[in-house]
Amino acid sequence: MVQSARKSGLDWTLAACARSSSRLAFLEELSALDPARVQFHFDLAQSGPLPLATLLAGSPWDAVYACGPAGMLDAIEALTTSWSEGSVRMERFKAEQKDASANTAFELVLARSGQSIEVSAAESPLDALERMGVEHPFSCREGLCGTCEVSVIDGVPDHRDNVLDSREKASGLRFIPCVSRCSGRKLVIDL
Ligand code: FES
Repeated sequence: MVQSARKSGLDWTLAACARSSSRLAFLEELSALDPARVQFHFDLAQSGPLPLATLLAGSPWDAVYACGPAGMLDAIEALTTSWSEGSVRMERFKAEQKDASANTAFELVLARSGQSIEVSAAESPLDALERMGVEHPFSCREGLCGTCEVSVIDGVPDHRDNVLDSREKASGLRFIPCVSRCSGRKLVIDL
């Protein structure tokens, strides 16, 4: 992302944090970047975690992209609740656990082929696609990477993923079939 931002001429800064320098991935590569834009923070050497509140409060950024442990991402989320929709993007290492006890079956219709299948309460739409012989791309199967995303033609998705932001979820036009479900009885997707 930093390389891409540099090529596009965007203004950027990177805060790279770890417990110690020996635990930071890509230390050498990051050290070779513009030192005025890269801030290293090592908890053990600096007696505590990165002061996120200070960093974010004083920032002139249009957007923040973050990945890391859940505690850090939760803290960033809490500190940026007033930021504009879509300006804070997270990549979580682990999906939040969702309660599946109220799951219900629904019909999944593939608009292009006209095929349809009943997605049972115990399986994901991606599982159902595979059961009907459709080879659909996937990677994490946890609603984290976005590889399986499809467009919605009709129906109301019940979003359970960590890929789409709140605006994208509210639009109802995108769907992550490895974890998400349908709020009604039928969902038509662009496959
Ligand atoms: S496979 Fe990663 S979000 Fe669906």
